[in-house]
Amino acid sequence: MKTDWDTIIIGAGAAGLFCAPFAAAGGKPTLVIDHAVKPGEKIRISGGGRCNFTNMHTEPGNFAGHNSHFHKSALARFTQWDFIDLIDQAGIAWHEKTLGQLFCDGKATQIINLLLAKLKDADAEIWLSTTVDAIDHQDGVFTLKSSAGDLTCRNLVLATGGKSIPKMGATGFAYDIAEQFGHEVIEPRPALVPLTFPEGRFAALAGVSLPVRVWTDRASFDEAMLFTHRGLSGPAILQISSFWREGEAIHVDLTAGQDLFTALRDQRQSEGRRQISTELARYLPARLVEFLTKDWADQFDFTARLADQSDTALRALTDRLSDWTLTPSGSEGYRTAEVTLGGIATDGIDSKSMMSKTVPGLYFIGECVDVTGWLGGYNFQWAWSSGHAAGRHIAEA
Ligand code: FDA
Repeated sequence: MKTDWDTIIIGAGAAGLFCAPFAAAGGKPTLVIDHAVKPGEKIRISGGGRCNFTNMHTEPGNFAGHNSHFHKSALARFTQWDFIDLIDQAGIAWHEKTLGQLFCDGKATQIINLLLAKLKDADAEIWLSTTVDAIDHQDGVFTLKSSAGDLTCRNLVLATGGKSIPKMGATGFAYDIAEQFGHEVIEPRPALVPLTFPEGRFAALAGVSLPVRVWTDRASFDEAMLFTHRGLSGPAILQISSFWREGEAIHVDLTAGQDLFTALRDQRQSEGRRQISTELARYLPARLVEFLTKDWADQFDFTARLADQSDTALRALTDRLSDWTLTPSGSEGYRTAEVTLGGIATDGIDSKSMMSKTVPGLYFIGECVDVTGWLGGYNFQWAWSSGHAAGRHIAEA
């Protein structure tokens, strides 16, 4: 049976837009549809408007998911360097901000325009403000009941992302369709998200930021932490949120690995008459020291003189500073989460092509799959790599 399209990609986000020109290679009729008014909205707002489009240090260890090997193939066949080449060829200027994170010098819309130009060059079409109500599959043909009427195709690519930021049009659409076709979905949960604490816990510290090491049993990150009115945020907290589970504690090393014990012991000789709090303020933000003076008053007297502290007392204090154990009450949820952890189980997907192992012609790419990157450009790299894998497979079939 002849179909309207060779390939329909649902979702004009990073993965879907990137996949389309590869799938359309050789003139295969390809359509991208999205219910949003504009394509690539998350690209536009990402990285503070400059899009952290990849990370120079991308490697499989920078991703969470139930199968730590699944994403290796796609990442190896379209690497961060391949994406950087594209950006360079398009004349888009970029810079490394920190920790290998690459941002546009100008606006993130440059990336969207590049993806749209490639889509146009490949003669792929894009229909916005188009919804899909149901999908049927018979004799190798997918039929989409859409707001633009019934559409048929041989290859259907689900690229509708995760549930993060529903205000921007995020839905659980890919999960529902995956389940309809018999795929398992690992329970989605908000990730790269601020953690909340009982009201007012850190209100006095709102706006204070410092470098820390933060860890749970599963992961550890050395980055900045920010106190907010509602709890903790900043890169270190967003990172650990992907590994934290309700009811568990997180550990914060406020010294960020510095040997504060030796420093304070040495100062006990030269500055012994000073208060502990005065000395600590040399290493930690003054407002934090002020807060800890009250918060830890039952265990430590920060107003005491340094000279009066035994080695044991100093050790107890610095041990506590380097392992402040805190139990968040929750997270800010999908409202602000940058990504969704979990998603379509990788067991049912072929890692080279991103095609369903049980439904030929059905593909899953990008954030809807159970592959979640750390903060720092890894999630876009997954969108590019997985989109490329599916697109190439479709074109070569
Ligand atoms: P994406 O969400 O991009 O696209 C999905 C598309 O599907 C959307 O266009 C949506 O409208 C559409 N859609 C959804 N449901 C639909 C339905 N039912 N019918 C039709 N269409 C539907 N990552 C990174 O690497 N570097 C960064 O700097 C940032 N910064 C960042 C900031 C913020 C605020 C957020 C929220 C996220 C980031 N991210 C990021 C994460 C990154 O944006 C994300 O991982 C990718 O956009 C995922 O790409 P996808 O194409 O899979 O989904």
